[in-house]
Amino acid sequence: MQSTFLNIFKKKFGIKIFAIVTFFICVISFSFTAFFFHYQSKSLTDELIQNNLLLAGILAYNSRIGVFSESEELLKNPVDGIFQQEETLKVSIYNLKGRLLTRRERSGMEDEKRPDKTDKAAGGIDPGVFDKLNASTSPFYLGNKNVMEFWSPVVANSGYTQPESLFIEKKLLPGKERIIGFVRITVGQSALNKKLGALLVESVLIGIIFLFFGSAIIYFTLKRIVNPLNKLIEGVQTLGKGDFGEKVPVETEDEIGRLAMAFNQMSESLMRREAEKKHLEEKLRHSQRVEAIGTLAGGIAHDFNNILGVIVGYAQMALLTTPEKTDMHLCLREIFQASIRAKDLVKQILTFSRQGSQERNPLLVKPVVEEALKMVRASLPTTIEIRHHFKPGLAPVLSDPTQIHQVLMNLCTNAGHAMQDVGGVLEVNLDEVEIDAGDPDLSIDMQPGRYQILTVSDTGHGMDASVKGRIFDPFFTTKGMGKGTGMGLSVVHGIVKSHGGKINCRSKPGEGTTFE
Ligand SMILES: Nc1ncnc2c1ncn2[C@@H]1O[C@H](COP(=O)(O)OP(=O)(O)OP(=O)(O)O)[C@@H](O)[C@H]1O
Ligand SMILES: [Mg+2]
Repeated sequence: MQSTFLNIFKKKFGIKIFAIVTFFICVISFSFTAFFFHYQSKSLTDELIQNNLLLAGILAYNSRIGVFSESEELLKNPVDGIFQQEETLKVSIYNLKGRLLTRRERSGMEDEKRPDKTDKAAGGIDPGVFDKLNASTSPFYLGNKNVMEFWSPVVANSGYTQPESLFIEKKLLPGKERIIGFVRITVGQSALNKKLGALLVESVLIGIIFLFFGSAIIYFTLKRIVNPLNKLIEGVQTLGKGDFGEKVPVETEDEIGRLAMAFNQMSESLMRREAEKKHLEEKLRHSQRVEAIGTLAGGIAHDFNNILGVIVGYAQMALLTTPEKTDMHLCLREIFQASIRAKDLVKQILTFSRQGSQERNPLLVKPVVEEALKMVRASLPTTIEIRHHFKPGLAPVLSDPTQIHQVLMNLCTNAGHAMQDVGGVLEVNLDEVEIDAGDPDLSIDMQPGRYQILTVSDTGHGMDASVKGRIFDPFFTTKGMGKGTGMGLSVVHGIVKSHGGKINCRSKPGEGTTFE
């Protein structure tokens, strides 16, 4: 249990900071409470002392005549006035010799009454206290454990001889005053203790409220810091698992918000790089596949071509010597046609594996395209309209006319197949562009410079993504047996690549296809 708590404490930044700050808030609120209580209780006690010293002074002043004449009757009123104070337990007045002249005690407060050390049992002042009293001419306070005693000497001017003369309000002559008695006010501490108790409760409450609000503020502040950090940790973990592109919410503009923003940017760039890597891997796999097939096919194509030459030759000879419209003649014709198809395939394979003629000379592409289009027109049904547009004044390119011818034938044949049922438009365009370094159209294996663009588009059935992803693979076809070899676009791809160019395909099911 303890180790679990320690583990959480060690691993959770928020809890650690919360515990430390809460501890400091505790110390601060405790110190504040103690200071507040101490300060308040001191001022309460001081106030009580000051008040009672003042009262003792007033009582002494008002008792002058009573003390002078030692008349209990005259002392009754001043004593009653003081006694109205709630906390006053006892009021006593003595003459100069310490004899008790009058005394009034509060009844029902027996617990507050302790053995009165300063009082002689007979009602006079204890001689020990008496000396002290004689030494002071102003009110003073004698602290006791349970009660407080406030003394004041009753002072009169020695010039007065009659009690009545004391009624004359005039300043005492300096050096002529003399002490004629003493007053004593005994005050209980229970009222003060009650006040101090309430004050303690109040101070503790203030401390608790301070602690509560302090902790709550710290908790919510930390939550605002720790929550985004936790999301960042989750994001980094997801990123670590290879799930790029993970984003974390940016909730603030401070350092944490900027950290989240930086994380999102990093995540985005990692995702882009991952996509680029996948694309390059796919390209690499494709070219490896193409190269392997090319090498294999090229190796056997030559021998196969010779064998086919023999079959075609003998089939032709046999056809010439066999009477027409006989079964034998029909069979021989089938053999002859199949051999011709096989020769075409071998030719494609040879071009694909770049073992065909590679002679390249400066060549104007336009006439070759026009020538090919004538053949295409002848082979396509009239439901297909052919449109073309050639940019005037195009410069010659280094190429082989047979290869350009083959590219166009393969692309247009495919377009024709895609539109053969419902017809449509076949459009062939020839254009020129300048591709600079840094241009997104410039792929890694291309050099910056001028390029001619041959575009072949149709309004046929188009392709879905899965077909589109494989069209340049050798032997990939969606056509039935004997209808397609799947080599057409592989050959086109090979030729374009060998010219240092690139080929793109845009197609969607039902929306036609464009090769450029
Ligand atoms: N213009 C196009 N419209 C729709 N699909 C096309 C188009 N061009 C190519 N395809 C698809 O790409 C596949 C591969 O084409 P490719 O030319 O390589 O082989 P093929 O036409 O099937 O056979 P071959 O060209 O050897 O007779 C086709 O089978 C077809 O599904
Ligand atoms: Mg084809």
